Amino acid sequence: MTHLAEFIRQLPKAELHMHLEGSIEPEVMLALAERNGIKLRWETADALRRAYDFSSLQDFLNLYFEGCRVLVQQQDFYDITRAYLRKCAADQVLHAEMFIGPQSFTERGVTLQSLMDGVLGAMDDAHREDGIGSGLLISAHRHRTETEALALLDSIMPWQDRVAGIGMGGPEVGNPPSKFVSFFAECKRRGFKTSIHAGEEGPAAYVREAIELLNVDRVDHGNAALNDPSLVELLRQRQIPLTVCPLSNLRLKGVRSLELHPLRRMLEKGLFVTVNSDDPPYFGGYVNENLIEVQRCLGLSREDILTLAKNSFRAAFIDETAKSRFVASIDDYVAHHPLP
Ligand code: HPA
Ligand code: ZN
Repeated sequence: MTHLAEFIRQLPKAELHMHLEGSIEPEVMLALAERNGIKLRWETADALRRAYDFSSLQDFLNLYFEGCRVLVQQQDFYDITRAYLRKCAADQVLHAEMFIGPQSFTERGVTLQSLMDGVLGAMDDAHREDGIGSGLLISAHRHRTETEALALLDSIMPWQDRVAGIGMGGPEVGNPPSKFVSFFAECKRRGFKTSIHAGEEGPAAYVREAIELLNVDRVDHGNAALNDPSLVELLRQRQIPLTVCPLSNLRLKGVRSLELHPLRRMLEKGLFVTVNSDDPPYFGGYVNENLIEVQRCLGLSREDILTLAKNSFRAAFIDETAKSRFVASIDDYVAHHPLP
């Protein structure tokens, strides 16, 4: 391993774009299916892993939603959340903001209570046992209606104080941000931070809608913004964070190779970018592998890596004191790890 790869692995960082349903390792997926008496199309972890070969976002989402079926009981939600946060502890991810999309589960009769008790219980234990901070992001499906998104918002209000933000994912093209203007206004009115996936497969116009119509605090992905110079200028001026997911973009054919990934251009244009894993087992890497691969393929400097790590804390939905403390931990790390 290169010095820089090792430097990245040990560097304090946050992850802000990771879907809990997309964090299930194949072995765990099979074990959960067995535990819940659910028949999957794959018999072995290797067979499942071989299925992680996607042609598009929709192709991936079909498998991702199929995998959601193995999550039924409170313990299932606890186990996958705890496993991901253990990985964070091993990878120096000191703060993690995790999406979950309750609509996939409540439509099958899983109660929101068991989902929330499982996830929040694991977050509490990870904090107590490993000192890992985390935030929960409730994600609505963009292929469903705005009325359904508003019903989801109502249903999570009893946990308002435990929800770090509201997001939106699912098939992007044909489901523009403009479909959810009232929903995002209502999220803001109730005091929630917000983000939406935009510019992953959709056009720059969707990223503009996310900012101008929805006023989101962060944009998830945002890659297509580079096609619109005035939008780039808007993102730069307002310093709206983009949670970029390089290996996800590679595996879902958003980019033909990591060498062609827009992250480097985003950094050069002064955009507020962070690097994240999205759905780590599906896309072949956690946040460290994403950082190591983009560093290698785009020739990023040590300063670029430090910018990305500091951005990950600065873009988090945490207070300014916590941000400063985390950023100081990076400066402290650098002071003790001079690179050749
Ligand atoms: N895009 C949209 N929806 C998603 C994604 C994504 O990258 N990952 C999980 N749900
Ligand atoms: Zn995502």
